[in-house]
Amino acid sequence: TLEQIKARYLGKSGQITELLKGMAKLAPEERKQAGAAINRTKEAVESALTARREAIKRLALEARLAEESLDVTLPGRGETRGGLHPVTRTLERIEALFRSIGFEVADGPEIEADFQNFTALNTPEDHPARSMHDTFYLLDENGKVAEDILLRTHTSPIQVRYMQAHVAKYAHLETMPEIRIIAPGRVYRVDSDATHSPMFHQVEGLWIGENVSFADLKGVVADFLRRFFESDDLQVRFRPSFFPFTEPSAEIDVAFMSGALKGRWLEIAGCGMVHPNVLRHVGIDPEKYIGFAFGMGPDRLTMLRYGVNDLRLFFDGDLRFLRQFV
Ligand code: DAH
Repeated sequence: TLEQIKARYLGKSGQITELLKGMAKLAPEERKQAGAAINRTKEAVESALTARREAIKRLALEARLAEESLDVTLPGRGETRGGLHPVTRTLERIEALFRSIGFEVADGPEIEADFQNFTALNTPEDHPARSMHDTFYLLDENGKVAEDILLRTHTSPIQVRYMQAHVAKYAHLETMPEIRIIAPGRVYRVDSDATHSPMFHQVEGLWIGENVSFADLKGVVADFLRRFFESDDLQVRFRPSFFPFTEPSAEIDVAFMSGALKGRWLEIAGCGMVHPNVLRHVGIDPEKYIGFAFGMGPDRLTMLRYGVNDLRLFFDGDLRFLRQFV
């Protein structure tokens, strides 16, 4: 509209332009006065147009600024707070407790080699854990079952990997430093019911030195359990058992002296003195070094600590269940 108005007065055949053209017909004495009047008018129109154009620009900018303004002091729209999974809480707690007595936290791959998962752990070819019914194997690029890799069935192969690396690292020393680790992680077995899930967690423990005894094993585990459950009247029992990679071996049971589970023995870990064959497989001299290992179930520990009766609840991803732990 502004441009049209400008054309109407100042365009090629605008009213003021026409007046200027018409001056030629005027008498010379009239021309001077008329010229001055026309030019004043022309200047007034031009400055009015400019003023208006600036005003329009400013209003447009103000409108845009108002529209795009962002108030960073306003609260966010959706406020959703995350929380740690109950099993993660347990794992963090276990790590903190073991770090406090000088253990390091080690890790290893979930797709594991047959050697580390079985052979080095003194597990014979015909052991049932190696069967297809118990273990998830992987297919190679031709769709055939790969012979030497699998989803690890326990965290014990991390022992093997850690010891191999430790031996290599300290090969130049006459006596290697002690090994004191725990290794938490996911493990996989073909198993599913209220107390078994095809994926579950384990925490491996390993202490190797020149003079580490079964008494140390009992002390470390019993102390850990009392601190984990924050209970001094927790009973801990070592029940003779068998594992290929330990000798002697034991199962660790706990019983609470009060509460809903009072008096019932519950199995929470396996353990034992590391078998000399395992040490030989990783290049450690079993005549010089000795130690213990254990493998416990943090999912079980979580169930006991929070009174959960179905393991599968941990892995269903149901927020109604998980929110209770936040
Ligand atoms: N790897 C064993 C399992 O999955 C648990 C275990 C038992 C680990 C005894 C150990 C051990 O280190 O000494 O059943």
